[in-house]
Amino acid sequence: MSASGTTETASGTIPLSVEWIGDFGGALRLIDQTLLPLELQFVDCRSTEQVWVAIERLKVRGAPAIGIAAAYGVLLEFAGELPENADEFLERTLRACDYLAGSRPTAVNLFWALKRMQSVARALATGDSDFDGTLALEKLLQEARAIHDEDRAMCRAIGMHGSALLSGCTGVLTHCNTGGLATSEYGTALSAFFTSQDLGHTLHIYADETRPLLQGARLTTWELMQRKIPVTLICDSMAAQVMREGKVQAVMVGADRIAANGDTANKIGTYMLAVLARHHNIPFYVAAPSSTFDVSIADGSRIPIEQRADYEITEGLGRRTAPANVTVYNPAFDVTPAELVTAIVTERGLISPVNKQTVLEHLGVA
Ligand code: MRU
Repeated sequence: MSASGTTETASGTIPLSVEWIGDFGGALRLIDQTLLPLELQFVDCRSTEQVWVAIERLKVRGAPAIGIAAAYGVLLEFAGELPENADEFLERTLRACDYLAGSRPTAVNLFWALKRMQSVARALATGDSDFDGTLALEKLLQEARAIHDEDRAMCRAIGMHGSALLSGCTGVLTHCNTGGLATSEYGTALSAFFTSQDLGHTLHIYADETRPLLQGARLTTWELMQRKIPVTLICDSMAAQVMREGKVQAVMVGADRIAANGDTANKIGTYMLAVLARHHNIPFYVAAPSSTFDVSIADGSRIPIEQRADYEITEGLGRRTAPANVTVYNPAFDVTPAELVTAIVTERGLISPVNKQTVLEHLGVA
């Protein structure tokens, strides 16, 4: 553990959730998000195994942040040791990518980022006679940094488009954590709130606590309070009441994977919010970068849903809250059907209505 870098925003200095330290032989520094909000601690990963564990245990979490961490994690396969030839370089890079891809199944940003790292390795590994190990590792680091920088820019753009969408709102409900912790800096749904604040429009955010791992209670409230944005924490089961009382005029959430038709996987409980929003005639917005779309799958029924350990529900609060040996079901994500999504906000603008045609047109793959 050691001091980490920070980034300057219009509303103050915020710590970086993911940071590469040094040259290609360096280390991956993460905020250990499992300790927040009680402790702000950093963990330095120096092996692909440490990165795998950090992702699986949610020390680093949130779809874009997982992708960025994994991209840097590929470098740790070499730990600064130069590959001797192109075959070794390619074989070890692909092995590291395969390994890291097994850490979590739902957020497509992980696979998207690793695919980019694989492509760089494949391109470099052709023409063995000129192979240069130093250059190869420098190129891998360059690609990981590009993924990181692009995410930062995408999040800022999402914030601009998202804040325009919320200009008529006073209260907005959100779920899970979609801020700088989950991305590279501003986040996705939270970027819209931060940007509104930067532009002088203060929203009142209602944050679902997000059972079972409490990303909303632990992380979203922490980030919003750091930026001095008014936030009220509620239990997930209070959302309907908050909507009925007229406290929120919109719901905005992030995404872990969006299928070609706009069906959206996000933290468990999101689908329930979309159903409630429709009942109360409140717009339901999804904010996500283009790296979160998976147009290779037609609809949400094909999105793999991560199943997590029983103890997250039975002992998630640090002590047992259910009888021993009780049967538990713990899907970490659910899928919101596209017809319940009013608009998807990306770095390019808005998709609305949300269907296969509008999604593919927006992404330029129609
Ligand atoms: O299990 P987590 O905490 O990684 O789940 C994160 C979410 O569901 C977020 O809403 C999603 O990744 C969007 S992050 C900008």
